[in-house]
Amino acid sequence: MASSLSYAAAISRPCTSPALTSKPLFLSASPSHFSSPISLTNRFSRFGVKCSYADAGVKDNSFTIDVEANIKTERLVVLGGSGFVGLAICKAAVSRGIEVLSLSRSGRPSTLESWEDQVSWITGDVFYVNWDEVLPGATAVISTLGGFGSEEQMQRINGEANVIAVNASKEYGIPKFVLISVHDYNLPSFLLNSGYFTGKRKAESEVLSKYPSSGVVLRPGFIYGKRKVGNFEIPLNLIGEPVEKLLDATASFTKPLSSLPASDLILASPVSVDDVAQAAINAVKDDDCFGVFTINQIKEAAAGVKV
Ligand SMILES: NC(=O)c1ccc[n+]([C@@H]2O[C@H](COP(=O)([O-])OP(=O)(O)OC[C@H]3O[C@@H](n4cnc5c(N)ncnc54)[C@H](OP(=O)(O)O)[C@@H]3O)[C@@H](O)[C@H]2O)c1
Repeated sequence: MASSLSYAAAISRPCTSPALTSKPLFLSASPSHFSSPISLTNRFSRFGVKCSYADAGVKDNSFTIDVEANIKTERLVVLGGSGFVGLAICKAAVSRGIEVLSLSRSGRPSTLESWEDQVSWITGDVFYVNWDEVLPGATAVISTLGGFGSEEQMQRINGEANVIAVNASKEYGIPKFVLISVHDYNLPSFLLNSGYFTGKRKAESEVLSKYPSSGVVLRPGFIYGKRKVGNFEIPLNLIGEPVEKLLDATASFTKPLSSLPASDLILASPVSVDDVAQAAINAVKDDDCFGVFTINQIKEAAAGVKV
């Protein structure tokens, strides 16, 4: 990908964007690969190829033909790429040849897996970051920002942080925004009043209103996988995987119970962190993918990627 792009950059003069004259943000966007920062923005490049042919009596018959090259360079920003879900997303993106930049307060995770060298790890707080150091050149943003705490903290990280990120992405002209939200567990409305859920729904509204035809909201329930905490790994998959299999196998019997308030606290199927990551990457790669995705739709999207 990098070599074909550097070729395109070398032989073309696409239009310039004033916002893109600073240092390259993505790893492969180093001067050796990208002679022009212009190419950071171009999902589809147009370039000319010089051709020549010999004809009796004509000395120089070289001419230029226009070639419409379908070069789609995905450059993904993962907000919270060092977290449980964020790491899985970064890994899935790298494995599918997407360039990745992660923003989080802790920066590069302490795990030392080789694929992590292919990610640009930016240390910063979404509330104070200089977006010029994060967003230029990106073709999509995935936000995993969210968490628990006091009412105020939950409103702030689940809601406000994402609203800020959506608006910054929109301002920088990023075409796609994917939000990792949460299933509502069929909870009665008075229980959905907590800062966690109200923050999530506020963030969802912002994505869907600012990105009506390309924004994606994934609503997983319990996410399982190997969660790294410092040097330890919590094997959530030991619980999540068998529960998922059991609930999926009994879904036709338990379906009538799903209309009961809060029934999804027991009945909502857990989803693997890799499936959430694959669904998120699928959303980034598929221009026609937008809207809200339920647990089952996340699994279907991930299964579609696996086949
Ligand atoms: N885990 C689940 O079972 C589950 C289920 C449903 C939905 N979700 C949702 O999925 C998302 C990801 O969950 P997770 O379990 O991966 O959470 P996590 O491990 O806590 O990851 C959150 C990430 O956000 C970063 N972050 C937090 N505050 C930040 C700030 N102010 N500026 C920049 N980065 C910040 C964290 O890094 P730093 O702390 O280093 O900044 C971390 O990388 C959340 O929105 C969560 O609500 C999770």
